[in-house]
Amino acid sequence: MKQTDRKRLDAAYKKLRRLKTTFLGYPCDAEFNYEPLYRFLSFPINNVGDPFEQSNYQLQTKSFEREVLRFFSKLFHIKDYWGYITNGGTEGNLYGLYAAREQFPKARVFFSEHTHYSIKKNVHLLGMKYTSVKAQKNGEIDYADFEKKVSKQKQAIVVANIGSTLTGAIDNSSKLHRILKKHGVERYIHADAALYGMVLPFISDILFDFRVPIKSIVVSGHKFMGSPIPCGVVLTRKSVANTLQNYIEYVGAHDTTLSGSRDAFTPLIMWYRIKCIGIRGFRKQVAYSCDLAQYLVKKLRRMGWKDVHSSYITVSFKRPSERVVKKWELAVQGDIAHAICLPHDTKKQLDLFIKELEEECNEAP
Ligand SMILES: Cc1ncc(COP(=O)(O)O)c(C=O)c1O
Repeated sequence: MKQTDRKRLDAAYKKLRRLKTTFLGYPCDAEFNYEPLYRFLSFPINNVGDPFEQSNYQLQTKSFEREVLRFFSKLFHIKDYWGYITNGGTEGNLYGLYAAREQFPKARVFFSEHTHYSIKKNVHLLGMKYTSVKAQKNGEIDYADFEKKVSKQKQAIVVANIGSTLTGAIDNSSKLHRILKKHGVERYIHADAALYGMVLPFISDILFDFRVPIKSIVVSGHKFMGSPIPCGVVLTRKSVANTLQNYIEYVGAHDTTLSGSRDAFTPLIMWYRIKCIGIRGFRKQVAYSCDLAQYLVKKLRRMGWKDVHSSYITVSFKRPSERVVKKWELAVQGDIAHAICLPHDTKKQLDLFIKELEEECNEAP
């Protein structure tokens, strides 16, 4: 490699190291060390095919993948499950909607206007029709609008937000289910728990998982858990997945996943994180992050910043200047910005952020 190319890598590394210190708006934990796994990068590993089948491709990590799935099956209270490790929340949502469409090919998809953009994209890819439902002020679905729109349907596919992207709002899946049942609507509820799937089980009694009649759920691996490579998990009831398989002789396994070749390194990452931190560790991390969020809320309110709201680790507030948005990598939509408090954040860092907002207030004419 030329000296100039080496320098380019060094410069990119330094830039990323600097940016990590002001990474406040996106829900990805940045505090991890996967060095013991580096040696696995010297193999062309690939988890092609169903995670519960061996396949002809033997350079794989499916036993680790299955352990990760088992961890989430316990977390989400399901015994009879199927699932796989995806490359993130979007793929998991695509799988959930695909499974739903196979069950109810003509059904419309209902979701609130605060739903992540991956749902609309996936609905479009699958050639499905959808109805957008109003959201309440906190971002939670408006149940009256939902009932009005869904009550005349024979069948419906519903996406419940378990931690909406902007405000961390939680749709009540039991309530959605009750409304559908009341009107005799056949149903498939998919839970998008990309971020809060790794938050709620450790801090609340909210029933959002398979204890209510959802059919599939998605959680991201690179968000709260932390991973340098995007990843996630989709879990479904086994009865749902059983209808979606196709045996492929060439790979020696059923073709049950959306991607053919699949990442075999992220299962190691997720497995390693689970082993290193464990349930007690995750509980501590969630409590720490929620405390930080409350600290930020207090500071913002004390300085009179407008529109401050919080949900667990998500703090939304009036959008600051573009300079602050850019520097702190805040996620924004319209007049609202949000910060997500995660295990890598500290009070010291939040104090610096607040100081910059204060300076901005003082500079304003
Ligand atoms: C609620 C929700 N669902 C799905 C996604 C998509 O996840 P990914 O970016 O991993 O595809 C996100 C990402 O921020 C999200 O917030």
